[in-house]
Amino acid sequence: MGSGPAIRHFIDIADLSGNELRAILEESARMKRGRLGLGKAVREPDAPLAGRMMALIFEKPSTRTRVSFDVAMRQMGGDTLMLSSTELQLGRGETIQDTARVLSRMVDAIMIRSGNHEAVCELAAHAEVPVINGLTPRSHPCQIMADLLTLAEHKGDLEDTVVAWSGDGNNVALSFIHAAAKLGFSLRLACPEEFSPDPDDLKWAQALNSNIVLTRDPVEAAAGADCIVTDAWVSMGDTDAELREAALEPFRVDADLMAHAAKDAIFMHCLPAYRGKEVTEEVLESPMSVVFDEAENRLHAQKGILAWCLNVLS
Ligand code: CP
Ligand code: NVA
Repeated sequence: MGSGPAIRHFIDIADLSGNELRAILEESARMKRGRLGLGKAVREPDAPLAGRMMALIFEKPSTRTRVSFDVAMRQMGGDTLMLSSTELQLGRGETIQDTARVLSRMVDAIMIRSGNHEAVCELAAHAEVPVINGLTPRSHPCQIMADLLTLAEHKGDLEDTVVAWSGDGNNVALSFIHAAAKLGFSLRLACPEEFSPDPDDLKWAQALNSNIVLTRDPVEAAAGADCIVTDAWVSMGDTDAELREAALEPFRVDADLMAHAAKDAIFMHCLPAYRGKEVTEEVLESPMSVVFDEAENRLHAQKGILAWCLNVLS
């Protein structure tokens, strides 16, 4: 077998170089500037993905990831197949390996949202086309590309930005850790001990000389920060809601916590949000909140990711 160019999977931000991440973000911003209007059936002028087909596999619910990949692919001239694992033979015991090989013969890229991170890695190991991680319990890299785009739009140079996370040290938090380590911005995580990021992941980040700190005190994390970010206390697949809500109560983002951040700080949340739990209605609906810019940026970020994976970066 010949060894062709490496397939560009997008499984984790940690797998890419800073330059690759910056190229994706630049492409995403370029795609955003080139758009004619939200909601219109516009195609990018050069339709770089004309004739390409992407399979979108969802084992869990999704609004933003589903719609943004579908619309991104179509606006770039390509097409999508929306699949759920219960409709695939995968749900009846066909192996991931065989599924990867079969899909690779028919589609140009695969996006999967799965309850099992290792299964996504296995899919990528056996696929002959790019595999994109659309969220696993471990990480949510596509979300963080949209968040970085949003941060750069509101705060300028990422390297000079201080981001404070207050809440569960979950999949979204881990992708933030990966991004901070690769792109050099400061990240302060305030998490309860039992819902903190894995120490091995923090060690990985430290080895890259990253500027990441973990504290138990949300105020310490928020002090002077440019952005405060949080996520749901109970993620898809979590079965310990009561424990989580009790432990995470002190980490709620409210107006008092926002007051400790920089004067012009923004609030981010990947959505869906649970008002009165991880964030108050007051903060979510305040002028500081950029959550709907963030949601829109999923569309533009997916385009950058697709352009990188399918090797059509401009
Ligand atoms: N933020 C995010 O991934 O949203 P969905 O679950 O709606 O895709
Ligand atoms: N942490 C959340 C993100 C949802 C987009 C979850 O995994 O359910």
